[in-house]
Amino acid sequence: MDKLDYSPEGVDSWKTIILLYNSALKEVGTKLEILNDEFQHVHQYNPIEHIKSRIKTPESIVKKLKRRGYESSIENMVKYVNDIAGIRVICSFTSDIYRIADMLAKQSDIKVLSIKDYIRNPKESGYKSYHMIVTVPIFLSDGSKEAKVEIQIRTVAMDFWASLEHKINYKYEGDVPEHIKRELLECAEMVSDLDAKMLSLNEEIKDGEEDEDVVGGLRLVR
Ligand code: GTP
Ligand code: MG
Repeated sequence: MDKLDYSPEGVDSWKTIILLYNSALKEVGTKLEILNDEFQHVHQYNPIEHIKSRIKTPESIVKKLKRRGYESSIENMVKYVNDIAGIRVICSFTSDIYRIADMLAKQSDIKVLSIKDYIRNPKESGYKSYHMIVTVPIFLSDGSKEAKVEIQIRTVAMDFWASLEHKINYKYEGDVPEHIKRELLECAEMVSDLDAKMLSLNEEIKDGEEDEDVVGGLRLVR
């Protein structure tokens, strides 16, 4: 069977599953927004630039199952496709990525199934991002169910790189000319340098801010 089951029962269980994954995206999205708001409240700064989320299309779920040699069934997609619900978190600084990941992982209802740190261990292509597969409970009328969500956390610069690399791969259908691959790798290094420089600049101005005291409406610099 190459297609998902489009019989009335098949469509019904498909809809139930999509509802579950959509709810999981909402749950994780809200958790991230709360963390961002709290950060703003305590530290007067937002670690998250923006969040994008998506549900994988039936076509690409079927394609992925096929590529991995599994029959297209609801059971197999729930079991083997970890990125049906995907959320991408774009941060300003690399340090924010680990902070966000850590705060999420510590939440009692979140279970971390796997972590791939392509920041400390970039892919050969130069790809960098922090990936987590988590489950979150979804409370429905007849009890709760765990739903898997793939969370990709990266900086603005890493995201810029990944978008272009994705576009290039798509254009060449994976068969990217060597010189373009090389230049992409060079860009990946520039991304790392940029992220490191921006972080250290930010640390420097933050240290400055911590040294300042406001006394009687006057800003005193120690
Ligand atoms: P799939 O690649 O989704 O089959 O899963 P995997 O088990 O290989 O997981 P991995 O964590 O490596 O990749 C998951 C997702 O990260 C992909 O679907 C992409 O969205 C993204 N990703 C991984 N590698 C690359 C890459 O080299 N370039 C870009 N642009 N995105 C990547
Ligand atoms: Mg992959």
